[in-house]
Amino acid sequence: MKPIKVSLISGSPKPLSSSSGTLLDELKPMLSSRFHVNIHSLNKPSVPEESMESILDSDILIFSFPLYVDGIPSHLLSCLYEMEIYLKRHARPDLTVYAIVNCGFFEGHQALPAIELVKNWCYKVGVSWGQGLGVGGGGMIQSLSGVPDGQGPKKNFSIALNELANHINTCSEGENIFVSPNFPRIGYKIGAEMGWRYQIKNNGLNKKDIGRRLV
Ligand SMILES: Cc1cc2nc3c(=O)[nH]c(=O)nc-3n(C[C@H](O)[C@H](O)[C@H](O)COP(=O)(O)O)c2cc1C
Repeated sequence: MKPIKVSLISGSPKPLSSSSGTLLDELKPMLSSRFHVNIHSLNKPSVPEESMESILDSDILIFSFPLYVDGIPSHLLSCLYEMEIYLKRHARPDLTVYAIVNCGFFEGHQALPAIELVKNWCYKVGVSWGQGLGVGGGGMIQSLSGVPDGQGPKKNFSIALNELANHINTCSEGENIFVSPNFPRIGYKIGAEMGWRYQIKNNGLNKKDIGRRLV
């Protein structure tokens, strides 16, 4: 039987240690053993030549990227335009796309507009839409990688990833899923503000620079 090719694509501009990458690491063991899985990182505004064919020769694409200004990060948008040009020459109606969008806000439903953008891209380029997962509390995802699946603050993430994996494994379409961490919202906010103050100090600036306009 022909293996089913799956591409896991991190769309974070961070080449290492991104929440998008961590979510794909968590999802991968939940995928069917029938799948032949390739991992790609699109962290620049162009798809590397060697990746384009491998990505678009897949049967299933799973994008995982951060929410930027309620949308898709601009470098990833450029990559989607390039894929659109490629797909005009090599139609792939049998290709199914899933999207995981993580965001800094606590509420996963903030990611809905970006999920809708990917869904619209699917209609435009003639591929099939699978399902979207909006993950809130993106700032704490990496700190949870050592927590056992389904436990403590990771509980909602694990349930949502399992539900998404069930649809991917059967290559079926599902309703979008939105999750927040099992953690008090106020605690997340205080932690984020402490993290920003720490980063500001480490970069030789001070607290009032957080609100500084760059232009
Ligand atoms: C330029 C920029 C724009 C952002 N815009 C949003 C936003 O509109 N809403 C939101 O909830 N988070 C926003 N964030 C936060 C990121 O989505 C969040 O930090 C995410 O967890 C980063 O994921 P990554 O580690 O996979 O890159 C933004 C971050 C940056 C750098």
